[in-house]
Amino acid sequence: MLQVPIREHNNSMTSTKAVVLVGGPSRGTRFRPLSLDVPKPLFEVAGHPIIYHCLKAVAKVPSLREVILIGYYDESVFRDFIKDSAKEFPQLKIQYLREYTALGTAGGLYHFRDAILKGNPERFFVLNADVCCSFPLLDMLKLFEEKDAEAVILGTRVSNDAATNFGCIVSDSHTKRVLHYVEKPESHISNLINCGVYLFATECIFPSIRSAIKRRTTRPRFVSYPSSENLSSSFMAPEEEGEKNEVLRLEQDILSDLADSNRFFVHETRDFWRQIKTAGSAVPANALYLQKAFQAQSEELTPPSANILPPVFIHPTATVDPTAKLGPNVSIGPRAVVGAGARVKESIVLEDAEIKHDACVLYSIIGWSSRVGAWARVEGTPTPVGSHSTSIIKNGVKVQSITILGKECAVGDEVRVQNCVCLPYKELKRDVANEVIM
Ligand code: GDD
Repeated sequence: MLQVPIREHNNSMTSTKAVVLVGGPSRGTRFRPLSLDVPKPLFEVAGHPIIYHCLKAVAKVPSLREVILIGYYDESVFRDFIKDSAKEFPQLKIQYLREYTALGTAGGLYHFRDAILKGNPERFFVLNADVCCSFPLLDMLKLFEEKDAEAVILGTRVSNDAATNFGCIVSDSHTKRVLHYVEKPESHISNLINCGVYLFATECIFPSIRSAIKRRTTRPRFVSYPSSENLSSSFMAPEEEGEKNEVLRLEQDILSDLADSNRFFVHETRDFWRQIKTAGSAVPANALYLQKAFQAQSEELTPPSANILPPVFIHPTATVDPTAKLGPNVSIGPRAVVGAGARVKESIVLEDAEIKHDACVLYSIIGWSSRVGAWARVEGTPTPVGSHSTSIIKNGVKVQSITILGKECAVGDEVRVQNCVCLPYKELKRDVANEVIM
């Protein structure tokens, strides 16, 4: 265990930074077909890119002035997003740092440690970009200060069945200390899981990563990491191991060691939390963020009326016929058109899409520039509230229940599409159900 000096306590203006782990193009494959046209972190839920919701939470931390997005997407990918966000959050300096290859959730932090350490922040948040939650960062900060912690992790309770898909935390319910951490264990150890949001003391986390690197050289690993993207592969060929040698993961390489210290704590949230893994999971995420905006009386939302069942977001450039009925939990993107008598519920309608008159869209995502014909019905089935499933196919059968139309799809007049995923540029002229249309 590392011996670290106890930090001198400062007030709440102690400098804090935030890192958002955005991943890269080889990840997010379960987000297809939507990730074929936009990188997952930039996909819009509740009218804003997924990572905007992270920035919004981060911007509420008083002492926080700098956010670093770390990933391995091309530099150009986040340029416009950063430009727009700089206007919206003028107090934040936002930059994107690109890993030359996927370095893992801790590898990127370590690689860019000089940028993180610049200005001597005492602590920094790390947020997985692919989670949707209320980000109770101030509560985490409070616990961090109260306990003089070296790390605080955000936890939530899920069903026993779902827990093994996540990092599992065993904690002392009284002191909130993390006693034990296991990433995606094979058998049940706890239903308190890692939400993918952390607060680390800078003086502790980098020495911990350094020790993990040292251990790596003296004790090379032959078992691959259990990421939810590759749960099926458990062993690597030695040459593959060589390639991945630089990959360091917070979850496997660092957190279980931190649990051996006395200064690793968990803040358990009882508010909403979900992963955004499959494309269909954008629909419940959209609903949760819209509900949050509605509770906060956000002026961005469309005022309720006989035909608007809140919460509903309509982009100012969209055209919605006053006889169309929308909501709850609907987002209508830029320049989209919704015709007379249409019904849209629990759905995301993306930029330039068109829903013709009297069509019905339920539990679905209508892709960019797609067309839904008159009297057509595009329908998915609701995701159960407590469900944390991250797979699309189970035992060879499609299980995702949200209907998704990729970019520029066309559904004919009076056609019914039920529980389908439709790849870009397809035309559906007859009724389809429970299919992936390629
Ligand atoms: N920069 C960078 N580099 N980001 C990465 C890399 C990388 O090499 N690998 C993954 N990420 C980002 C992803 O984009 C995502 O935001 C986050 O790190 C975690 O991704 P995964 O590695 O796929 O892990 P996971 O989602 O299966 O599980 C993690 O998150 C769960 C909560 O959503 C773990 O932390 C679990 O313990 C946790 O329960």
